[in-house]
Amino acid sequence: MKRDHPTPVRIPGERLLHAPGPTHIPGEVLNAMHRQALDHGDPRLDAVIANCESGIKRLLKTSAELFMYTANGHGIWEAVTENLLAHGEAALVPATGHFSESWAVQMELTGRRAIRTPYRPGYPIDPAVVEQALRADVKREIAAVFVVHTDTASGITHDIAAIRAAIDAASHPALLVVDVIASLAAAPFAMDALGVNVACGASQKGLMSPPGLAFVAVDVKAAQVATRNKAPRYYWDWQRRRGAYSYTKFCGTPPHNLLFGIEAALELIDREGLDAVIARHSLLARAVHAAVECWSSEGALQFHCRVPEARSTSVTTIEVREGLDVEALRSVARERFQVAFAGGLGPFQGKAFRIGHLGDLNPAMILGCLAGVEAAMLAQGVPHGAGGASRAAALLADHA
Ligand SMILES: Cc1ncc(COP(=O)(O)O)c(C=O)c1O
Repeated sequence: MKRDHPTPVRIPGERLLHAPGPTHIPGEVLNAMHRQALDHGDPRLDAVIANCESGIKRLLKTSAELFMYTANGHGIWEAVTENLLAHGEAALVPATGHFSESWAVQMELTGRRAIRTPYRPGYPIDPAVVEQALRADVKREIAAVFVVHTDTASGITHDIAAIRAAIDAASHPALLVVDVIASLAAAPFAMDALGVNVACGASQKGLMSPPGLAFVAVDVKAAQVATRNKAPRYYWDWQRRRGAYSYTKFCGTPPHNLLFGIEAALELIDREGLDAVIARHSLLARAVHAAVECWSSEGALQFHCRVPEARSTSVTTIEVREGLDVEALRSVARERFQVAFAGGLGPFQGKAFRIGHLGDLNPAMILGCLAGVEAAMLAQGVPHGAGGASRAAALLADHA
């Protein structure tokens, strides 16, 4: 057979994947997926699905109802919109940068209204602005507040407790809906304790699994809103997915092998312990931040997030001085030094790069990544303070 592309050259060792999703997939997850699918009635499949449901609910810290979809993050956004909002109905979308805007646009294109608060570049959502927007809604037209917990483009994690408090202070009945796609199993989150009505996530980030499975947890209040909502829907419909049969739960064939992988990933998280997983993310993030702090001293690079405590434990967004070619830097890092990191998204395109530090990562992987980024910056003549990887190593050494 004639190929239309050359046989790729074998790369010795592994390329380090430091995109903020998809993330590195552990061997245990890959191995778990390497088996035959089951037939629809096999109770083994029901057991796998039940383990995935209970494991994801443990991560979300919720007793709410859970629906899983063969979908990515955009799919689960649409599931939320289709179930909660009637056509023409509005949600308040506090701006977090790129992903809040994409969600708002998706809502509008499916016939809903998005009321945005303005994004202040580099800063987390101001809860006072949310409260003000809700107070201004005297006719109570806003059905929900849609918040992105960690915006993967800006690298900022937003304070969900403060947003809950803002909704309560405005005495507004809106539901609180949170996208934890980039924060789940990387930053503290507790759906029930935070008073979150709906939380949605996906498989390819903190869950250390391939893309393709997304899920949404729905509390009783949100489920009632969905039941009353007459907007026509089929695949996304929560009611249609209620039932014990696997084919019903997934509105068709479940993604068997992905579920095998996710079951294994959840077991890995359980074995390490969720608190330990979150603490590991926090430590590795601080190591990356130490390196970026050092690199920034030459004036060509800087943290996008200006508030240190709002910097994400999943991803760090680094702005570059005008004229620096981010794509060339990424390409040299990926092809010569085997470190794959992300570019800027949306308003940050060409103006920033992003280092993902979530999922199945350890200190050696982070140090390898930082050293690889440094090598690429040296090769490309990007001005940066020397010794960032050593600063990260020193920070890690200090935290036995
Ligand atoms: C916070 C957040 N929400 C939503 C999405 C969209 O997810 P997907 O790319 O799987 O559609 C992403 C993707 O990176 C994300 O980071």
